[in-house]
Amino acid sequence: MATRLAGRTSRIASSPTMKVTATVDRLRREGVDVIDFGAGEPDFGTPPSINAAAHAAIDQDFTKYTPVGGISDLKRAICDRYRIDYGVEYAESEVIACAGGKQALFNTALALFGDGDEVVTHAPYWPTLSEQVKLAEAMPVLVRTNADTGFAIRAQPFIDAITPRTRGIILNSPCNPTGALMSEGDLATVAREAARRGIGVVVDLCYEKLIYDAVPHNLPAVLSRHCRDLAVICGSASKAYAMTGWRCGWSLGPASAIAAQHAIQSHATSNVSSITQKAAVAALTGSQEPVTRMLNEYRVRRDQLHEWLTADPRLRCQKPAGAFYLFVDIGDTLSVDGFRTSTDFAQALLDESGVAVTPGEAFDAPGFIRISYATSMDNLREGSRRLLEFVRAHAPQAPVAR
Ligand SMILES: Cc1ncc(COP(=O)(O)O)c(C=O)c1O
Repeated sequence: MATRLAGRTSRIASSPTMKVTATVDRLRREGVDVIDFGAGEPDFGTPPSINAAAHAAIDQDFTKYTPVGGISDLKRAICDRYRIDYGVEYAESEVIACAGGKQALFNTALALFGDGDEVVTHAPYWPTLSEQVKLAEAMPVLVRTNADTGFAIRAQPFIDAITPRTRGIILNSPCNPTGALMSEGDLATVAREAARRGIGVVVDLCYEKLIYDAVPHNLPAVLSRHCRDLAVICGSASKAYAMTGWRCGWSLGPASAIAAQHAIQSHATSNVSSITQKAAVAALTGSQEPVTRMLNEYRVRRDQLHEWLTADPRLRCQKPAGAFYLFVDIGDTLSVDGFRTSTDFAQALLDESGVAVTPGEAFDAPGFIRISYATSMDNLREGSRRLLEFVRAHAPQAPVAR
């Protein structure tokens, strides 16, 4: 008799972004020459000073269990970083270190949401955000952002989506996959409304260090001003410090919400790897120059890739304000007798041209593809060349004027 799976397994799908990574791995093991535009992780090595802290931890046998929510040094380093960067104050009881921003967000969803609750978030989205809401037995409610407004995350649609069942709002800025930012003013409007109605506000700031221009983006201060007792900030060392494999993220929020996360994590994974914690302390307290260096390199790549791709009017996209993805509208290359969906397009692009991209369906945005430029300029050049050639071969007509 087949194993009977719990109902929640049928409500969620496994991560489509991770699926692209797995396919690339498989093809490369088979010897296929693949340019990977799918990976949502920095191609840079972890900065040497961070690696050195991990080596020292091993040498000093710092290899045992630690307190579930992280060592005191790490909690203080997280709080200090947010004080320095944003001027907000959090105590050690208001922070927990988790196995990546993903676990921080999952803990938060399990701690705040439950059966029958509605949680409003924006789409196109990073799929984990809505799947975690479902795992918490709650229901995601989607607010659409649009290409014509640069996928701006505006306040009013969130407020319009609130019902008596709304328990939470999840915002992701910079947004994966669109690279759009939420403005301080829009967040203030949402935060004030949330405070009036007692709704939790979760802000995923995992790409907070990857913002290209000096635009105001002090979302933590806005939350502190308007709804501190209802707000949870989730952050991560992964993207900022090129530490995806180390698994370190965190939640900052009111002590009661953090205590609940603590209880959940104590029965799930316990502490983040002790070695990783020492490395994360070095990352957060050390020079932030490597972050700036990587950001500068991403900016050069973004500008170059954007120029290459938009030379073909059928590949329409704006330069993202943050993160490291171009979110490209390929609607003009789809047709009833060619590729019907961006999933078809992405599959054929991989099969015929050896370029891996993530189809928009993964982010609830059919008609788009996400291209990660967290890869070398050589890969970007060759991948763009193949992609442009592929589009020319398959979508020979000029795009319809809009
Ligand atoms: C929007 C967003 N939030 C959070 C995360 C979590 O990253 P990690 O668990 O590596 O910190 C990711 C990873 O891709 C992401 O794209």
